[in-house]
Amino acid sequence: MNKGKIVLTGDRPTGPLHLGHYVGSLENRLLLQENNQQYVMIADVQALTDNFNNPTKVRDSVFEVACDYLAVGIDPNKTTIFIQSAIPSIAELTIFYLNLVTVNRLKRNPTLKSEIQQKGFNDNLPAGFFVYPVSQAADITFVKAELVPVGQDQLPMIEQTNEIVRSFNRIYNTQVLVEVKALVPKFARLPGIDGKAKMSKSLGNAIFLSDSADIVAKKVKSMYTDPEHIHVSDPGKVEGNTVFAYLDVFDKNSEEVEMLKEHYKKGGLGDMVLKKRLTDILNNFLEPIRIRRKEFEQNPDYVLSILKEGSEKAQSIGEKTLKEVKTAMKIDYY
Ligand code: TRP
Repeated sequence: MNKGKIVLTGDRPTGPLHLGHYVGSLENRLLLQENNQQYVMIADVQALTDNFNNPTKVRDSVFEVACDYLAVGIDPNKTTIFIQSAIPSIAELTIFYLNLVTVNRLKRNPTLKSEIQQKGFNDNLPAGFFVYPVSQAADITFVKAELVPVGQDQLPMIEQTNEIVRSFNRIYNTQVLVEVKALVPKFARLPGIDGKAKMSKSLGNAIFLSDSADIVAKKVKSMYTDPEHIHVSDPGKVEGNTVFAYLDVFDKNSEEVEMLKEHYKKGGLGDMVLKKRLTDILNNFLEPIRIRRKEFEQNPDYVLSILKEGSEKAQSIGEKTLKEVKTAMKIDYY
């Protein structure tokens, strides 16, 4: 079935997925799977670049992430879900692409740069981590993806991928590789519950899709609001107020949200009222996901069979691309 565009995206399996993932990409994937050929990759090889000494975490997270995908409604009949390490073509392409990228260019990749800093590698930066943007270019190009729905922070990866595509096609005088477009979600990214710009497991500020209703309530209760809004009667700030940032995304009744904002700014509206509203909205949203997730968790053989089937399909496409790449590079000996 040849429909729409070839879409590819992926997640590092380092833990279960959270609301930031939902807003940042899962929601887009649900729409895109309807009219496109969509591939979703569980990037275990990339996860290992900075978790090579923790294989159990990566292994367990592959299953967690797969359950999250299926629970939110990524449908294996519409989307090919696969595991990166099951696609040797990606590893082979990475080796070829590495020749086309300079160390200096990698050092200038802003996402990579900030991750290296954040993880505090200093003199112990693993070479594999340093070159993961090249491996990500292989992830994207092995199926000749045209569209990659990702969060803002991944734009430098897309840019670097397109540089590799252009270099490859120019140097080997071919059209084999295809440039790709990023699709950035309609909402700005969801802040963490502490008000930090990014929700992330490692920052400990995430609400997971698999969190129980009680945990969601607790996390919302601890959410960063306006530190100067001490008494209910005080006027409060809406900007930078995490509860409002979440209501903007998840509350369907945007007129009411606007009224609440006005009330809050004037004073007389307490944080607890808003937090109760947000808790209910989030739990209503998450409840059906939790129920479906339990079913998949209890049926690991089914989940693994989906991954196996998807990986076999992806690898067969990768083999075709690899053949064309090798021909272009004149290493197609027999
Ligand atoms: N780097 C992405 C992240 O950290 C995950 C990823 C790996 C990815 N390969 C990809 C995303 C290919 C899009 C396309 O979230």
